Amino acid sequence: MTDGTDHAIGEAVAARIERRWATLSIVIVGVLVGMATFIGIHQATMPQGRVETADPRTLHLSGEFVESNLGSVLETSGNVTVRAIGQQYSFTPACIVVPVDTPITLRATSADVVHGILIQGTNVNTMLVPGYISEQLMRFTRTGDYLMPCQEFCSFGHEGMWGKVKVIDKTDFANRAKGGGRLSCVGQ
Ligand code: CUA
Repeated sequence: MTDGTDHAIGEAVAARIERRWATLSIVIVGVLVGMATFIGIHQATMPQGRVETADPRTLHLSGEFVESNLGSVLETSGNVTVRAIGQQYSFTPACIVVPVDTPITLRATSADVVHGILIQGTNVNTMLVPGYISEQLMRFTRTGDYLMPCQEFCSFGHEGMWGKVKVIDKTDFANRAKGGGRLSCVGQ
């Protein structure tokens, strides 16, 4: 009858090991759920970047991104706001003009698919997602021309989607801004 006893002992050992692994699996799941919950709550309590939306279907009809409002504007604070849109396969304006040593807020969105704005030689790099406004602060410490390629693949014309940023002297910019309106360096 020793065989039967051995079998019973074996079963008991197997059952114990099985329970141990089952407990471990439940603990792992519990830890993962806990982490997900913590991160979710934690992020909800952190200051979030504002989410601003813009309907890509009506960008050209009304609101902040109508064509006449695109380009650079000198605010009364002395800061500059640049508004731009990306579309297959260009940026509007294709040449952005800004003054040197000035806080600049770039506000941009996409009229169709996901594009990206990257200004070479700087840390400016943001995605343009249709439906959302991307805002990025920037400041240039030297004048000159900076290339601005689209850095998100946006279909077959992606390689040819380039813009330019022209950083000019502050006084020069202020003079150009005197007449009001929106500045760009398209065709210059
Ligand atoms: Cu637009 Cu790539």
